[in-house]
Amino acid sequence: MPERNLTRLTLRRPDDWHLHLRDGDMLKAVLPETARHFGRAIVMPNLVPPVVTATQAAAYRARIMAALPAGMDFTPLMTLYLTEDTDPEDVRQAHASGSASAVKLYPAGATTNSASGVSDFEKVRPVLDVMAEIGMPLCVHGEVTDHAIDIFDREAVFIDRILKPIRKKVPDLRVVMEHVTTQDAVDYVRDSSKNLAATITTHHLIINRNHILAGGIKPHFYCLPVAKREAHRIALVQAAVSGDKRFFLGTDSAPHTDANKLMACGCAGIFSASNTMSCLAEVFEVAGRLGKLEAFTSLNGPAYYGLPPNEKTITLVKGDPVQYPARLETGDGPVTVFDPGFDLHWRVEV
Ligand code: NCD
Ligand code: ZN
Repeated sequence: MPERNLTRLTLRRPDDWHLHLRDGDMLKAVLPETARHFGRAIVMPNLVPPVVTATQAAAYRARIMAALPAGMDFTPLMTLYLTEDTDPEDVRQAHASGSASAVKLYPAGATTNSASGVSDFEKVRPVLDVMAEIGMPLCVHGEVTDHAIDIFDREAVFIDRILKPIRKKVPDLRVVMEHVTTQDAVDYVRDSSKNLAATITTHHLIINRNHILAGGIKPHFYCLPVAKREAHRIALVQAAVSGDKRFFLGTDSAPHTDANKLMACGCAGIFSASNTMSCLAEVFEVAGRLGKLEAFTSLNGPAYYGLPPNEKTITLVKGDPVQYPARLETGDGPVTVFDPGFDLHWRVEV
């Protein structure tokens, strides 16, 4: 059947390779939004205080499982927050025991709760060497934090100043460049022959910097890395719909209450867990590549992480526009759901 006539699409259940679940009341509210459609997620460790050790990751995983409503099937894949004091043997043990699937590198000060991140990369070299040896991926927030560097250039500069030297020194390290936002990052990933992949968020496939800044400032579109100009968004869409195994979904769904978004110094983060699959179906359909959606959401990620794809499936059904609640109520206050700015015709049948 020609793609333009598709009205039903069955996919392996998707996974989210970059997700913020938070803790406490917020965790309780946002977890079902992901677990409804997704089988697994790489869970970010940027709690306060951050999840640094194998023991802390196991405890956080237990809190997530306790917050999961009965009958929902979801597997959190935990990460360790890399600090200059991280013990390589604790990382080895976390990987061996399954209490962590990856390590997360935040350059110190890059984003929400990243004060404990890395400034001196030589200090974490022993950890990276162990990870290369055991094949444990390093998830990288790829932005420099140098105030002299323009915020729109921070990803491209990170690739040259930080990522290229790390990958040269530790060539066997498996790296995931997370939430890429630039043509530069797409090209860098495409040009590498091994040990490098990238996640792309839902919102970076849909918004550019005009959405944030033109016609009034829109805090709900503010996230880090910040969305770039339209040419970069187009490069991201081309990478996502290409089917190239090195690109896969990491929503970076990052809930903040409206009170924390709508203030003089509002938090960075877009909450897209609720409507991500409907948004993505629209993006892939417009690109004429619905046939590649499953690779992006459900196949390429597990392949890079050395895991089988999910056995279960979901079905997307096309029809009248689907309405998602504009806000999710949480014990901490309302959280605004990402508004793609267009109708969503694909609803998820699970
Ligand atoms: C994330 C958050 O709120 O935790 N915010 C964001 O804008 N993406 C932090 C992050 O992953 O950068
Ligand atoms: Zn994130």
